[in-house]
Amino acid sequence: MAEIAKKPVKIVETVLRDAHQSLIATRMKTEQMLPIIDKMDQVGYHSVECWGGATFDAPLRFLKEDPWDRLRLLKKGFKKTKLQMLFRGQNILGYNHYADDVVEYFVQKSIANGIDIIRIFDCLNDLRNLQTAVSATKKEKGHAQIALCYTLGDAYTMDYWTDIAKRIEDMGADSLCIKDMAGLLEPYAAQELVGALKATVSLPIDLHTHYTSGLASMTYLKAVEAGCDIIDCASSPFALGSSQPSTDVMVETFRGTPYDTGLNQDIMTEICDYFSPLRDEAIKSGLLNPKVLGVDIQALRYQIPGGMLSNLISQLKEAGKEDKLREVLEEVPRVRKDFGEPPLVTPSSQIVGVQAVFNVIAGERYKIIPKESKKILMGEFGQTAEPFNPEVQKKAIGDETPITCRPADLIPPELPKFEKEVARWKQQDEDVLTYALFPKVAEEYFEYREAQQTHIDPSAADKGNKAYPV
Ligand code: CO
Repeated sequence: MAEIAKKPVKIVETVLRDAHQSLIATRMKTEQMLPIIDKMDQVGYHSVECWGGATFDAPLRFLKEDPWDRLRLLKKGFKKTKLQMLFRGQNILGYNHYADDVVEYFVQKSIANGIDIIRIFDCLNDLRNLQTAVSATKKEKGHAQIALCYTLGDAYTMDYWTDIAKRIEDMGADSLCIKDMAGLLEPYAAQELVGALKATVSLPIDLHTHYTSGLASMTYLKAVEAGCDIIDCASSPFALGSSQPSTDVMVETFRGTPYDTGLNQDIMTEICDYFSPLRDEAIKSGLLNPKVLGVDIQALRYQIPGGMLSNLISQLKEAGKEDKLREVLEEVPRVRKDFGEPPLVTPSSQIVGVQAVFNVIAGERYKIIPKESKKILMGEFGQTAEPFNPEVQKKAIGDETPITCRPADLIPPELPKFEKEVARWKQQDEDVLTYALFPKVAEEYFEYREAQQTHIDPSAADKGNKAYPV
């Protein structure tokens, strides 16, 4: 390999976002992150993914933490390393489409509070749903990375991927991410896909996958050999299973080769030593189920993300129909086909999963059609890669005319309304965005925050405790 020019592979460290979202239901607290970020800042990662995805919803709902506070504290600690977040296009960090003014303001505030790189995706790969977030990111001088959601199916040919990559480049993306949320990208397929994308676009390519099906490190190896520029990895104690491949293993794999990352392995070992007891604690408390650490062969057979599988199981449990899991897993691909064969990722994974459960437990397909299924078949989430099954669509929406425009074109500006509603609680500009995304959870949190403040000695307010400047 001596004749190959040096091409160090870059590493995105995910331990502060996807790794704990995938393994311990996003329950890592800010106070558990802060003691190690000075060390992490010295490693030389391409970026640290630490915000977005479920790390907005979960702290508010379960940890009674303000996600904006977390971001500001991380930014203070990471002096050199770029901070990265995951952003669901027009859904922002929620589950519905929002008006453009909310999307733009969210991007503006994310960057103002410390985010450098925004990874933006849409669950249908409908690029119209990304344009507002991408333009806002560019306007705020952030790095706009557009992610295509990787999936398998009739529609997803190599032509589909190269065509979408070209359009992503034309949209002004700074880099392109292959987002393989279910761990479906096999090593040789990755080699072929990355090779084809590199031949089509000149953007840096970042590969994001999960270890769920046991393939991921091999997939990274072949992808890097094919020209992949950036790989997403997690510090070993929070790697593997439904999380990412281990940073330490990948760095070691490429050491002494043209792809040598050049990262400081001594500091990385100290980082592992820091996270190891947190992992042990999580296993002991039951927060980390050892089951998710192994290879989940169902992921390859049924091609569904790990989170979706656990949702299906809990829905069936609630209905007392746990014995129907096999039937539901077989129904999922049929529903997916009826719904235009979308990738299965939040929120399409939930919609397809819930419909499949109803189809099985009602004893008749589409006897029950939830509101979210109707929305997808009305075109309210955007355009799918394949057409809908016309019979199913008719059953769901009757004679209504589905929309074909970009869904957010039909949503008038929403910020003024949210500003009015949040006025009673507002202590910082960002509160309106928290409220816009999760009104109920936000109100509960704001109420908690106020109660905390009234119990605090006012003379201590400027000593960095929980009191917020008004
Ligand atoms: Co992921």
